[in-house]
Order: sequence, then C-alpha cells, then structure tokens
Amino acid sequence: MWGILFITLSNLFRIFQPQLIREALDKIVAYINSSPEVKLNSQLSSDLMYFGLMVLGCALLMGVFMYFMRQTIIVMSRLIEYDLRKKIFNHYLQLDLAFFKRNKTGDIMSRISEDVNKVRMYLGPAFLYGFNLITLFIIVIFTMFKVNFWLSVYTLLPLPILSFIIYKVSNLIHQRSAQIQTQLGVLTSIAQEGFSGIRIIKSFHKERDWVQKFDKESQEYSNLSMNLAKVDAMFFPSMFLLIGISTLITIYIGGLDVYKGTVTAGNIAEFVIYINMLTWPVSAIGWCASIIQQAEASQKRINEFLDTEPDILSGNYKGEDLKNYEIKFDQVNFKYDDESDPVIVDLSMSIKQGEHVAIVGRTGSGKSTLAELILRMYDIQKGQITLGSKNLPEWNLSNLRSTISYVPQDVFLFSDTIRNNIKFCLAEDQNISDEELMKLLESVGMDQEVLKFPEGLDTILGERGITLSGGQRQRLGIARTYARDTPIYLLDDCLSAVDAGTEEKIVQNLHQRFDQKTLILITHRISQTKDMDKIYVLENGLLVEQGTYEELIENKGIFYKMHLLESAIKKEKSVELN
Ligand SMILES: Nc1ncnc2c1ncn2[C@@H]1O[C@H](COP(=O)(O)OP(=O)(O)OP(=O)(O)O)[C@@H](O)[C@H]1O
Ligand SMILES: [Mg+2]
Repeated sequence: MWGILFITLSNLFRIFQPQLIREALDKIVAYINSSPEVKLNSQLSSDLMYFGLMVLGCALLMGVFMYFMRQTIIVMSRLIEYDLRKKIFNHYLQLDLAFFKRNKTGDIMSRISEDVNKVRMYLGPAFLYGFNLITLFIIVIFTMFKVNFWLSVYTLLPLPILSFIIYKVSNLIHQRSAQIQTQLGVLTSIAQEGFSGIRIIKSFHKERDWVQKFDKESQEYSNLSMNLAKVDAMFFPSMFLLIGISTLITIYIGGLDVYKGTVTAGNIAEFVIYINMLTWPVSAIGWCASIIQQAEASQKRINEFLDTEPDILSGNYKGEDLKNYEIKFDQVNFKYDDESDPVIVDLSMSIKQGEHVAIVGRTGSGKSTLAELILRMYDIQKGQITLGSKNLPEWNLSNLRSTISYVPQDVFLFSDTIRNNIKFCLAEDQNISDEELMKLLESVGMDQEVLKFPEGLDTILGERGITLSGGQRQRLGIARTYARDTPIYLLDDCLSAVDAGTEEKIVQNLHQRFDQKTLILITHRISQTKDMDKIYVLENGLLVEQGTYEELIENKGIFYKMHLLESAIKKEKSVELN
C-alpha cells in the first residue's frame, strides 16, 4: 500500500515540471512581445530563477518518492520469491522417486529458478511499472486534455500503435530468449558430460568428436543469439520513430494553433515534454503485458508441480511398542511402470528379527529393487510386505525408514567434509566424537587412509576436494551406517569394489557388530555368504533357491554354479600370482 502512495506522489511531482516550464516560457514570450528591444530586466530574471528552483525541487521530491516506492515493492517481491522458492523445494523433497524419474532434472530445476524468477518479475517490476504508468497516464492525459483537447488527440494518436508494437516485440524477444536458454542448457550439459566423462573420452581418444559436437551446438546458440539481436535492434528505433512522429504532429498542429491564438508557445513546449514523459509508460504497457503473460504461464507450471501429490503416502503407525521386527514378503509382484516387464514375481519370504541373511543373484535379477521395496521407495502392485506384522503402507514413512539403515549400491557422498558425510545419517540431536568416528573408520579399514588425507576428518570430498576411490566410497558408506543404531541393516552390494582381504574382514566385523540385529546383505559374491543364517537366490525376479550355504552347495543349483565360477576365477588369479 505504501508503494502505491509513493508512486502517486512521485508522479504528481513529475507532472508539475512541464507546467512550470510552460509558465516560464509564456512569461518570456510575453516579455519579448511587450518590449521589442530585448533586454533582460531584473523582474524576469528573478522569475526565471524562481521557476528553475521549483523545477529542481519537484525533480528532487519525485526522485525521493521513486526511491521509496522501489524500496517497498522490490523488497516485497523478493520476499515473496524467497517464500515461493522454499515452498517448491520443500515440496520436491516430499515427492517420491518415481516423480524424479518421470521428470527431467533440467525441468525440475527450471521450475525453481526461471519460473520463480518470472513470477517475481510480475510481482515486482511489472506491478511497479504497471501501476506507475497507469497513474502517470491518468494524470498526464487529464492535464493535456485540460490544456487543449484536439492537440492532445492528435499527439496521442501514434501512442497505442507504439504500445502494440512493443508488446509484439517484447514477446518476440522473450520467445527467442527462451530458445537461447534451452540451447544454453544443451550446451552446458554437453560440456558437463564432457568433463565428468573426461577419462573415458581421453582413453578412447574421442576428444575430436566432443569438440565437434560442442561446436555444432555452439553454432546453433550463436545463430539464435543473432536472431535475438535483430529483434533487439528494432526495439529502440521503432520506439523513437513513433515518438518523433508524435512530436512532429504536436509542433505542426500546435504551430498552426499558435497562429490562431488558441494555444501559446509555452503549451507546445509543455506538450513535447508530456510526450516524452509518456514514452516510457507507453512502451512499458507492452512490456508489462508480455511479462504478465509469461508469469501466468510460469505460475501455471509451478502449480502443476505443487499440485502433484506423492504417490506414496505415509501411514499412521509409528512402531513405538514394536518388539519384533520381522520382515515378511507375501506373494509380492512388482513392476516399475505399467508397460515394463515385472521385476519381482510372486515372491514370498520372511526374515526374522536378528537373522543374518544374504540375497544373491545375477546382475539384473531384482536385488536392489527388493531393497527399495523394503524401504517403500515404491509401492507394490500385488501381495503385501509387512514389517513387524504391519503392512508397509500402514507405517509412518519416516518411522519406517528410521528403523532401517540402508547402504545403497552406488554410495552417494556430498561435497562436504568426511566428518559431515558420516554425521549426515544421524538425527539432529545426536552427536558423535572424533574418537568414535575414527573407530568406525577403523572397523571398515579406513582409519589409516583418512589420517593420510591432508586434513584428516576435515578433508572435503567431491568437486571441491579430493576424489575417493570406488572402494573408499563404499567403505565410507558402510561406516556411515555404523554410526546409526537401528534394528535392521540393509546393505546393497557395498563391497563390490573392495579387495578380497578387506572384504572378509568387513564381513566378519558385520557379523560381530550386528549380532543382535537383523542384517540383510545383498551381494554377487558367494564368499560373503558363508556365515549367513539364510541365503535367498533371485533369478529374473523369482526366488529360485533358499537355505544355508551348505544346503545350497549341496543343492547343485544356480548358487552352486555361481560358487564354482567364483572359485575358478580365484584359482586362476592365484596361479597368476604364483
Ligand atoms: N528405476 C527403474 N526403472 C525401471 N526399471 C528399473 C529400474 N531399476 C531397475 N530396473 C530394472 O529392474 C530390473 C532389476 O534391477 P535391479 O537393479 O533390481 O537388479 P540387481 O539385481 O540389483 O542388479 P545388480 O546386481 O546389477 O545391481 C532390471 O532389469 C532393471 O533394468
Ligand atoms: Mg543392484
């Protein structure tokens, strides 16, 4: 509201200026007419001085109020932008994995950056200038018509055309800028992929291909930019042309009227200033209209996302008094989407509390999918999964997930210190000392390596710091779950990049550490399953074998074959070493 008041005040002071100038001019003309021999008398010069100061004063006041209005409105629009952005991000994090698979990352990102920005442009600048020009318009036109009706009509005639042209041109500019934005996205993703895949590009000697690819898109970008430049170049000349025409009309028709004596020379000067004053608002009408249109489109896209409900809704059961954390699969069927093939087929099994089980199977057999189903990252189509005899959908999602410590197959580490990466899995009120951290690292055989890093636990990982090897990442991922105390531990193939000796130590450590806990270890390697209470073998989503290590070897099925293959490879290796 303050903003609107400031706009009006600022415009009122702006409008005084031409009137003062007119009076001053008329005084001079009258003076010249009355005494043919031109000589400055003191009365006139002090009058002119007075007018000059008045104009200056008005300009100053106008400026002050303009400052206040920008302050109020721009600040307000920034605050709204902040809220909107926070709301969208928060909503994103509530949505399930399927949403992120459906929508491209670029799209998700542009909602939170570009679309929010467009809405802000509407709330801030567009609103500001829109309102500004309306008040200015009303005041200027009112004064113009009061001074001379027909002269006003003629001078204002070209202005609507100007408005329309600017609207069209702005739209064109925005369209082309949008194309440029998209192309820029293509360009950056090529560059980015090139950098992250630099090893493979270099090793296959494909630098030239990438340069060509980049060159092609770069050329496209440059063409699009040229297109924009052409439209841009038209913008100001067309504006000035129309203003010129308006001024010309004013002077011509006004001149005729001065002859007739209906208007004074001062009036003409006043009108010319009015026209110049109207230039900006009139062009802004077109500009604002175009921004409002885009903001509307952006708001619609934002709302589309905000209206997306997560498919996986949280239940009410919090598991407070739960004693037995048995996991049961009953005739479970699952596929990722309607068209694709089933990934889990009629699977039934039960993992008792405190049991240590392994899930093995060839690549693509559905092991990781099974793990994600236990965490309820996806909902199953048929059958049911229960934890502690409660169906998973009945569980409160955050309680369900906090009963399970999960190490995903591809451990993700944040670009942060080692300490913070481990602490990440702790609750807010939990803390862990450096000594305890080092102990955790020791149990995955990583303490010495971390001590060798330049800053120890404070070493930053990822883009801003050092890069860990595959095995180091996996072991850090395991150490992270060690910091948590939960009834169930679920480790997905997290030793695949670790050497055999370290692997055995870590598996032994797992058995000791999680003696009283449920441990589910997903793996390719038969050697890891020796001391397990039970082993489940998956093949194409079907549970094909189950039993202890000895039973399965006895059984001479898939498990046995995998075992033979593994021992053969091991033997070959040891022969090579000797
Ligand atoms: N997010 C997904 N969307 C669609 N299909 C998927 C998705 N994830 C996995 N699949 C498919 O589901 C099947 C099982 O994949 P899954 O990752 O569970 O196998 P896995 O046993 O963990 O294999 P690996 O040992 O290589 O890790 C595969 O055919 C895979 O193509
Ligand atoms: Mg997997």
